[in-house]
Amino acid sequence: MMMAYFLYTALAGLALLLALLYTKNPYFLQDLNYAITAIKIGMRLSKYKKSKPFYSMLDCFLDKVSRQPHKKFLLFEDSCYTYSQADKESNKVARALSTHANLQEGDTVALFLGNEPWFVWAWLALAKLGCTASLLNNNIRSKSLLHCFSCCDAKVLVAGADLRGAVEEVLPTLKEQGIRVFLLTEHCDVDGIESLTDKIQQASDQPLSPQLRANIHIKSPALYIYTSGTTGLPKAAVINHERLWMATFLQSLAGVRSDDVIYIFLPLYHSSGFLMGLCGAINQGVTIVLRRKFSASNFWNDCRKYNVTVIQYIGEIIRYLCNTPKRDNDRDHKVRLALGNGMRADAWAEFLQRFGDIRVCECYGATEGNMGFVNHIGKIGAIGKEHFLVKMTTPYALIRYDTEKEEPVKNSKGFCIEVPRGETGLLVAKIGARTPFVGYAKNKQQTQRKMLNDVFVKGDHYFNSGDLLRIDDEGFIYFQDRIGDTFRWKGENVATTEVADHLLMLDWVEEANVYGVKVPGHEGRIGMAAIKLNENMDFDGKAAYQHVKNYLPSYARPRFIRIQDDLVVTGTFKQMKVKLGEEGFNPSVIKDPLFYLEDNKGYVPMTPEIFSSIAEGKAKL
Ligand SMILES: *[C@@H]1O[C@H](CO)[C@@H](O)[C@H](O)[C@H]1NC(C)=O
Repeated sequence: MMMAYFLYTALAGLALLLALLYTKNPYFLQDLNYAITAIKIGMRLSKYKKSKPFYSMLDCFLDKVSRQPHKKFLLFEDSCYTYSQADKESNKVARALSTHANLQEGDTVALFLGNEPWFVWAWLALAKLGCTASLLNNNIRSKSLLHCFSCCDAKVLVAGADLRGAVEEVLPTLKEQGIRVFLLTEHCDVDGIESLTDKIQQASDQPLSPQLRANIHIKSPALYIYTSGTTGLPKAAVINHERLWMATFLQSLAGVRSDDVIYIFLPLYHSSGFLMGLCGAINQGVTIVLRRKFSASNFWNDCRKYNVTVIQYIGEIIRYLCNTPKRDNDRDHKVRLALGNGMRADAWAEFLQRFGDIRVCECYGATEGNMGFVNHIGKIGAIGKEHFLVKMTTPYALIRYDTEKEEPVKNSKGFCIEVPRGETGLLVAKIGARTPFVGYAKNKQQTQRKMLNDVFVKGDHYFNSGDLLRIDDEGFIYFQDRIGDTFRWKGENVATTEVADHLLMLDWVEEANVYGVKVPGHEGRIGMAAIKLNENMDFDGKAAYQHVKNYLPSYARPRFIRIQDDLVVTGTFKQMKVKLGEEGFNPSVIKDPLFYLEDNKGYVPMTPEIFSSIAEGKAKL
């Protein structure tokens, strides 16, 4: 009797306490749940770090292989590979590369592949040999391709069969540098390119000795992933094993379970597809459905066909899906969770309304960044929620930023100023032992540029995210804008200086200023360039088109060109981008000559008709 009484009192007390906490914070239970998961993850990571030899993503994969060998690992088009088959496939690739490319532990190999199973086998193979994989963007060509390749000191290039043309284009330079080039084909008679598929077929599928990778530690580079961070040509962000693990845990934080089926269509050469998608999936031991390229019309059919339960997204994708014609079976699927970043509030609401009750987990973080946020509540429009654990482990701040001068505002002592809650500020995250910033391969200058020093006290160092955020009273974090020299289009970062450098190669262009402009109904900004012509020179729309087509991936090509007599600069001689971006591309407002890039045709004079077809969403951009 007495016992029961005490129990009741205790329970009532607990209920009261919970009710109190709930009125103070309606997200208390979700926050608590999140905290427990985060603490478990922290404990796992510190165990992996301490274990000898250190426990890598590959070890995690091999554990899954021995625990669930016959579980489906990868579904691609009409093929299906179990965990065990994937293991054997990668053993063969590892043996073929080790024998024919003479790879040693610590070597770097560049992978130039689209989304296909070879991508996964090749990466696993390299991990088995203790090598670093450099993930080249398969859209880049010629000069940019060579630049990216040379960033990571790779001795070997492995390319997909469909990229043969792109490889042949840069082959003379690769040959000069003594690079071994392998193509995933059974036969190749081009001098300087070796076939690889035949060698893989002949190789044994027996496991490789862990001795081959015995010296790899948690700070060794696991991958190079290219980003267009802030300026110039793409940079290779060094992803060491610690960073790889941290990104991998996002799926656990988002609540992915081992019985899930995840749909990966984002490029594997980016961190969302590779770290959050592929590695996260291996960590949870789930089944992956891999797709070569996103297709709005096939998206839900794929989800139905493969029983997909988790999808990844970037903001643009959600818009594309919402823009497809409505169908009766829009809600006929098993997708329960969507994880990714960049879903804007309006598209988010429309997405849920149309496609059903899908839990959306927005995650925020940069490939090379040292921290991230997760919106574990699912609050529409927020990229994350403040959590005392995040604050404790990764000190970050929003600091006041002057968008005209394009620099942080300083107080009288020369330090940055934290903005009050509710105001927009630049996100900076303290660099420390637990939140290291590894930076870019062979690029100290760009690494330095991403750092802010003496932010709040002398001698401190912060990672400059380049993103302007706002935090509301409940602690929800909202994305406001991106500063500096990049804009996003079609889910890719476009570095304005890189595009400008290419335009300057045209001998009739004297100056070029590249920026992004907003287009109704589209995420991000589309590329536009203001150029000044050399004296007595004319704009040659055909030549300009040929040039950008040769050197730039389609998402980076300026869609509009504006000819100016003089390019406007700021007081400190920086090019004005914000003002030009706001002025847009309406020919009835802008008096300068304007040109529009018509696909397969070249730059043609901009007309009010073209403008209205874009404004009405009819033109395909
Ligand atoms: C999807 O689920 C259905 C019903 O549970 C099952 O019959 C079908 O075989 C599954 N398809 C795949 C590709 O796993």
